Amino acid sequence: MKKRVGILTSGGDCPGLNATIRGAAKALYERMGDDVEIIGVANGYHGLINGDWREMQPFEFSGILTVGGTILGTKRTPFKMMRVVGEDNVDKVAAMKKTYKDAKLDCLLCLGGNGTHKTANLLSQEGLNIIGLPKTIDNDIYGTEVTFGFHTAVDIATEVIDRIHTTAGSHSRVMVIEIMGNKAGWLTLYSGIAGGADIILIPELPYSIENVITAVEKRAKNGKNFSIVAVAEGVYDVEEARMKKKERAARRAEAGETTATARIARQIEELTGFESRICVPGHMQRGGSPSAYDRVLATQFGTYAAKLVEMEHYGVTVAMKNNHVTQNPLSEIAGKSHLVPESCDMLQVARRMGISLG
Ligand code: F6P
Repeated sequence: MKKRVGILTSGGDCPGLNATIRGAAKALYERMGDDVEIIGVANGYHGLINGDWREMQPFEFSGILTVGGTILGTKRTPFKMMRVVGEDNVDKVAAMKKTYKDAKLDCLLCLGGNGTHKTANLLSQEGLNIIGLPKTIDNDIYGTEVTFGFHTAVDIATEVIDRIHTTAGSHSRVMVIEIMGNKAGWLTLYSGIAGGADIILIPELPYSIENVITAVEKRAKNGKNFSIVAVAEGVYDVEEARMKKKERAARRAEAGETTATARIARQIEELTGFESRICVPGHMQRGGSPSAYDRVLATQFGTYAAKLVEMEHYGVTVAMKNNHVTQNPLSEIAGKSHLVPESCDMLQVARRMGISLG
């Protein structure tokens, strides 16, 4: 009997989504030939709620290995709103189940990050056959050592840090570079080490500005006329770490600085006398073609998902453990996240290198 396999991409995009879609589709056609039909759902759960789907043709999965973004489109549809009936009076969970039924799906591949996986788990608990695939530049999905998109973003952020070095040196400045990552500091930590940042600040380790200043001054005493600070966008200082979210926002609003990056640059300039500038590469970190590493990983993950479809093994998400592609039950990983632990080797590497972690 023909299998109808749905695919959607949800949440923030990243390089490698198309490579994963391609890996899954090509492996499905290879293994199941005419016995498989692939249904693309537009714009993630938004399309699933609104019945926006179509049957796709094999040629649509060719030529997309190197293409950034997602051919299916994506949207953020917050998990916390899934059970909330809004003004439009739409029961979103019922609507998603209806689309699944209308499209006669046998299963649905959900490519996404933490939020996507929470909804994937919800749909699985509602009786749909779901397989998750872990994407995010933040690398913060529980139960997998790596997510696709992460290493491409590391490459991009590293290039930013590399390029900032020459202008920092020419002007004798401190450059504060804001790297994406609200809760997880993986991207800042890896690109900071790869790019040779002097100070790396991540959300998991609240920083003290005194330690940052000490690090800049130490470099100056050693004859270094510039410093590079890699800051994850979601960092807190030690005082903020003790505050509630609202208090934190009020403190920043009062100072007229919405981001920690802006505050850090100002404080460095005031307290060290070094002219400081900030650099925010922003969504550039999520754009463009996936790196070779991510193309391989995406293809590994996509083809593994195809195997799970063939085996009718649902309610799981694909993962990398001990360098092997495997899977985790959605119920075990949904709602958890993978942050940088104190025991992380990379933190030890940074400390051994004399990099300040604030
Ligand atoms: O989750 C990926 C990510 O790029 C985060 O690093 C960042 O905080 C967030 O998405 C930005 O979200 P948006 O694209 O919705 O502005």
